[in-house]
Amino acid sequence: MTQDDRPIDGKRQSNDSVKLDYALRPRSLSEYIGQERVIENLKVLIEAAKSRKEALDHVLFYGPPGLGKTTLANVLANEMGANLKTTAGPAIERTGDLAAILTHQRASDVLFIDEIHRLGRPVEEVLYSAMEDFVLDIVIGKGPAAKNVRLKLPRFTVVGATTRLALLTAPLRDRFGAVFRMDFYSMAAMEMIIERAADKLKIEAQPEGVTEIAQRSRGTPRVALRLLRRTRDYAQVRGAGIISQEIADECLSGLLEIDPLGLDDIDRRVLLTIIKNFNGGPVGLETIAASISEEADTIEDVIEPFLLQLGFLERTPRGRVATRRAYEHLGLVDNRPTSIQQPPLF
Ligand code: ADE
Repeated sequence: MTQDDRPIDGKRQSNDSVKLDYALRPRSLSEYIGQERVIENLKVLIEAAKSRKEALDHVLFYGPPGLGKTTLANVLANEMGANLKTTAGPAIERTGDLAAILTHQRASDVLFIDEIHRLGRPVEEVLYSAMEDFVLDIVIGKGPAAKNVRLKLPRFTVVGATTRLALLTAPLRDRFGAVFRMDFYSMAAMEMIIERAADKLKIEAQPEGVTEIAQRSRGTPRVALRLLRRTRDYAQVRGAGIISQEIADECLSGLLEIDPLGLDDIDRRVLLTIIKNFNGGPVGLETIAASISEEADTIEDVIEPFLLQLGFLERTPRGRVATRRAYEHLGLVDNRPTSIQQPPLF
């Protein structure tokens, strides 16, 4: 299985239905399930901005893929009654690209920049003054005839999203008035999200079937919606079209090889490599990546956050360590001394 068709990968995939996802997404804060701390904070920001009749403060979301960063950008624009323009760090190659976008912004519009950590340095520098002073500083022409030009911009809002907060430069991070970490969703929230989606897609799912999908979705709505669709297909072909617990288990365990905690073959390979080849660790990320022929970025962005959350992996100054829990989950005996089973975190 390649990384691109891993059903439990939180990253957007080419075969995810954009139209369908759009229809399923909540459009207002009141429809939004989970992330209660973030939602409460956003309600205050929105109300304050509205009462001052100002554009919303710049907002940055960070966290693993698939947790709703793009959805929240849409919700924010909707709640503010503003237009949303969506772009991504790698798509803004030159300062001229950014200038073209910014000069088309109107007052209170929201500019959503996904993967904002991937902006080039010159583009980032133009963005600083645009965000802070609502001016566009650009150079027109080349050589001795080059001229600095300053254009005034309307007050607008940047919503940034990143899976890698640490890669953002400090000046860019400081331009955001509010910074929110997106957490994995609770089981209760995941069940509600799946029920809501099943309802909208007119899929008949029994509560036990919903629970089965929720448990294997890694606390990630994008994964849950993908597993719901796969299970619906399976139910149509192999069952009576109804997602029962048995059907969901057969599809998820049997067909997709996702275990009851949401781990798939690649997660298991990461853990088994650390355990079998490196005696449980510590071992560096690059070494793990090379051993299983995966990209280090994928391991760090997609695989590790969930293994850390489950308490299967720990990050230490000397590398990654598999915990005793990981051994137990894989049915292996952990013979290491206790000091290695519970390494110091710093
Ligand atoms: N669909 C996907 N994510 C959702 C969320 N957080 N709340 C409601 N519906 C969703």
